[in-house]
Amino acid sequence: MPVRMPEPFRIKMVEPLKTTTREYREQALREAGLNPFLLRAEDVFIDLLTDSGTGAMSDRQWAAMMSADESYAGSKSFFRLRDTVERLFGYPYTIPVHQGRGAEQILFPCLVERAKKRGATAPIFISNHHFDTTKAHVEIAGASVKNLICPAALNTAVHDDWKGNFDLEALASEIELTGAQQIAAVVITITCNSVGGQPVAMDNIRDAASMARQHGIPVVIDAARFSENAYFIKQRDAKYRDKSISAIVREMFDYADIFTMSAKKDAMVNIGGLCCFRSDQALFQAAQLRCVPMEGFITYGGLAGRDLEAMAVGLDEACDEHHLASRISQVTYLADRLAAAGIPIQTPVGGHAVFVDAGKIRPDIAGHHFPAQVLVNALYLESGVRATEIGSLMMGRHPVTREQEPALFELMRLTIPRRTYTDNHMDFVADSLIEVVNRASTLRPLDFEYEPPVLRQFTARFKEI
Ligand code: F0G
Repeated sequence: MPVRMPEPFRIKMVEPLKTTTREYREQALREAGLNPFLLRAEDVFIDLLTDSGTGAMSDRQWAAMMSADESYAGSKSFFRLRDTVERLFGYPYTIPVHQGRGAEQILFPCLVERAKKRGATAPIFISNHHFDTTKAHVEIAGASVKNLICPAALNTAVHDDWKGNFDLEALASEIELTGAQQIAAVVITITCNSVGGQPVAMDNIRDAASMARQHGIPVVIDAARFSENAYFIKQRDAKYRDKSISAIVREMFDYADIFTMSAKKDAMVNIGGLCCFRSDQALFQAAQLRCVPMEGFITYGGLAGRDLEAMAVGLDEACDEHHLASRISQVTYLADRLAAAGIPIQTPVGGHAVFVDAGKIRPDIAGHHFPAQVLVNALYLESGVRATEIGSLMMGRHPVTREQEPALFELMRLTIPRRTYTDNHMDFVADSLIEVVNRASTLRPLDFEYEPPVLRQFTARFKEI
């Protein structure tokens, strides 16, 4: 048996990629205001902007779409999805939504309202780390966020199996100091995107959840990359070596009360999400009430029947161990190539992306001159590969003082869509980035030409200084 197994699929349909010259890309990037978010996707050769909605669906997903029920209310595709959710996660109360942030916008105001009824005057959400839209929806709901990620996550060079973990001591003291009644929810993000797609250990999920529950605080899982987290638990925790991915998934979700999911990641749909409840029918009903005006009727939540079908099949495929092994090994392959060339990355590599530590490559560029964005742009010019910045640009400014918020790190994320590219593509990405890093000292820092007031990374325009 060869040590390195190939992809557990063969390719039935292909989409040609456009190759461009450096001069072409220079003009395209100039027109995009030196912000690859504003490029036309057809001018990108390998798109590693995100793993969200960009995976390849299977023939089984496409087949299920053809037999979907497009009824406005009570579609049989909804019931199929609901039954799949209940079987996999043990949560009987399901609301489909158009994507992860759809779940956040219907759930978080309900949690805030409940916290206020219980005496909260300044409700907060505590997480290992909130994703940026998650933080935005907490703030829109009139609450604030606290991230309590373990310190190991912040040093990209240090190896730690569980960099997604909560700092449990900090969680205990936060609950003590803030008072349990102020805390609208504890949000466990699996895997933890913001620090590199890093897994949360089962023990940590259990302990964080039990601490919250002892104080009557609802536990929410942000489940975008739930099966990748389960796969890491199987690989890295001897207690779970002989358990199936489904059994591990079930145990993770047993510790929580609610989950929100962007199904565009592990569940491999182009669009879709979930907001699900274990037993809290009052909260389920409150979220359903918000769903109708915000997302759509409670059995479709802004999706077509065919999207519900694709999601139901995708949830099962997400838990296929052969798929996960191939998926994670591709991400690891790219990481190993970069690490072998001495490029600093978040170590060990996470589930969905390689996070390159641009702050270490160009420590002389201050956060507000965006060292990771500098690298992102140089990589696009070199090769047509599009990555994204996770650093000061994404952090933005303090809402009141308007000072640049300090970022945990300055990272360039090379995000790998599922089942979409081959390892040859990864080699091309690695070779291109190695070239760029070799002449990184010649790259010029950036400044804003146009700075949007919020969520700057999406529409900002830059100039070189
Ligand atoms: N939670 C996590 C952990 C996420 O990574 C995302 C999206 C969301 C929630 C929101 O889900 O996009 O379906 O509304 N992350 C994408 C990314 C956009 O590129 O990391 P959504």
